[in-house]
Amino acid sequence: MVSMQGSPRMAVNLGGIEMRNPVNTASGTFGNGEQFEGFYDVGSTLGAITCKGVSAEPWVGNPVPRLAELGGSAILNSVGLQNPGVHGFVERYGSYLQGLRDKGCAVICQVAGHSIGEYEQATELFEELAPFASGFEINISCPNIAAGGAAMGATPETAAEVMRAVRPRTARPVIVKMAPHDVAEIGRALEAEGADALSLINTIPGMAIDVRTRKSRVCRPTAGVSGPAIHAIAVRMVWECAKAVRIPICGIGGITCGDDAAEMILAGATAVSVGTANLTDPTCAARVVAELTQWVREQGASDVNELRGAFEC
Ligand SMILES: Cc1cc2nc3c(=O)[nH]c(=O)nc-3n(C[C@H](O)[C@H](O)[C@H](O)COP(=O)(O)O)c2cc1C
Repeated sequence: MVSMQGSPRMAVNLGGIEMRNPVNTASGTFGNGEQFEGFYDVGSTLGAITCKGVSAEPWVGNPVPRLAELGGSAILNSVGLQNPGVHGFVERYGSYLQGLRDKGCAVICQVAGHSIGEYEQATELFEELAPFASGFEINISCPNIAAGGAAMGATPETAAEVMRAVRPRTARPVIVKMAPHDVAEIGRALEAEGADALSLINTIPGMAIDVRTRKSRVCRPTAGVSGPAIHAIAVRMVWECAKAVRIPICGIGGITCGDDAAEMILAGATAVSVGTANLTDPTCAARVVAELTQWVREQGASDVNELRGAFEC
């Protein structure tokens, strides 16, 4: 126990990635950090950042419109993982990201692919070209071209196949970013293949129709829903997954404040990522660090790790 004024220990270990506090950023919602420097010192504030998904070769992404606001509590996105490929990414962001590492902020590089071979290739390139990466996050929500566009990680079998292919290609920590499917069963399959940690959830498939034009409000009929509207679903999935696996979890989905992050930790998460809220309040992740620390203090705990999974049913 600590006094209300004491400073609790906030450091966590996410599957081998040392974080000074549990707060990370969700891939695709924080650029690669640089754009937020005008708002706060990213490297001295956050526990980690997770970069936008990057594939071996550049991807052009989807046509516009890619984003639609859904009544203030959610957005719909269909970006299609536009990225410059591993070479372009390292050239453009490598020295900035090394600077974050030097300040004590972990850097998680996200790996994307449309086939097992593409995941292998991207991981190998990252392993060779990205000494600044603390670890890798494998995005298994990418469409599998050979399976007609179903997500690469939609079943325990295909998720395990991706992990089996990536695991021997790096000795650095591997986190798997899970889609909102059967997270307990898929989580167990990933743990069995050597995943060091899991992050969940990715966006939830949804639709928004412009009733005047009768067309989708984004470039595709279906797209990913994110933001506060999905938070309760994400907390439930983190709780279900945490009960099923022993590896650590990074909780993602609709986090806008310290209490949202605290819910994830009580449900069993080791770390949390701020996503869509970065777009509406660019200072959100920094505020979540302060508010989460205050919550730990108010709970009378000396270490945030004491509160993990402390949800009382
Ligand atoms: C504009 C946008 C781009 C995203 N790009 C990625 C991505 O490249 N890779 C990924 O795994 N998730 C991506 N996501 C999903 C987020 O990382 C996160 O899992 C999801 O938005 C849920 O968290 P939130 O409700 O806090 O935003 C993206 C989300 C948005 C809104």
